[in-house]
Amino acid sequence: MADFRNLVLAIDDRVATLTVNRPDVRNALDTETVDEFHRALDAVRQARSTVLIVTGAGDKAFVSGADINAIRARTRDDALASINSRLMSAIESHDAVSIAAVNGYALGGGCEVALACDLRIAASTAVFGLPEPTLGIIPGAGGTQRLPRIVGLGRAKEMILTGARWDATRALEAGLVSRVVPLPELMAAARALAGQVLALGPLAVRLAKAALNASSQMPLSAGLAFESTAQAITFESADKREGTTAFLEKRKPVFKGD
Ligand code: COA
Repeated sequence: MADFRNLVLAIDDRVATLTVNRPDVRNALDTETVDEFHRALDAVRQARSTVLIVTGAGDKAFVSGADINAIRARTRDDALASINSRLMSAIESHDAVSIAAVNGYALGGGCEVALACDLRIAASTAVFGLPEPTLGIIPGAGGTQRLPRIVGLGRAKEMILTGARWDATRALEAGLVSRVVPLPELMAAARALAGQVLALGPLAVRLAKAALNASSQMPLSAGLAFESTAQAITFESADKREGTTAFLEKRKPVFKGD
């Protein structure tokens, strides 16, 4: 297992849990942490984990955003190199289904990590926001693009253009998270959600995720062609034979992911 300074990565059977571990700075993402995050995603891919749970160390913050010291030092060229944005895209396109278990402040890049995840659940103490304009910059790791796709343009404008912070209740109302639980129950709830994913055909889950991601990136006709092609792959799969046979034999399927 790779060694990290700013992250803890635990891989347990088919579920990986990545904890951003810089509680003294509310789990802010500096350049080293972003590099480690990429390495952790590679390790999760190599371990063939089906689900990746992302959370933050401590009880205050999920991730408080880009490290403001790093942001101060960054130039126009750094921004154009999309350092943080590439991380969010790597999370979004990862083989594993990602679950953000938001245990506190998810601000700026922290909110953007959550937005890049496939599923989001929150502790009742969680706070979401994209406060970059309070620093004189704009959200630069997907905030202006993924937030409106998830909650709608009007709500996204309200958050970004007023600097609003949303508590967990507001995030649930807006569809930013699918569930809110008391903080002590958060990781159990994330693992239960992971268990629901694990019960499904792994190949089907990967292809469904790819098709869902494609839906925001291509016109309907191309998306439907993508979907049919992905369905054709599942139709020839061992998982399909097992899933349909298990249904007819009234037993639980044992999927292998092929
Ligand atoms: N980058 C660098 N350092 C950060 C940080 C960030 N994004 N967020 C917090 N810290 C540091 C603080 O400077 C402070 O350092 P210190 O102990 O040396 O003074 C420490 O973490 C604790 O932060 P503090 O503000 O005292 O904690 P809090 O619990 O009262 O508030 C937040 C937590 C997250 C609400 C608050 O720290 C905050 O607003 N952070 C910035 C969020 C932001 O603007 N993110 C977008 C960045 S582009």
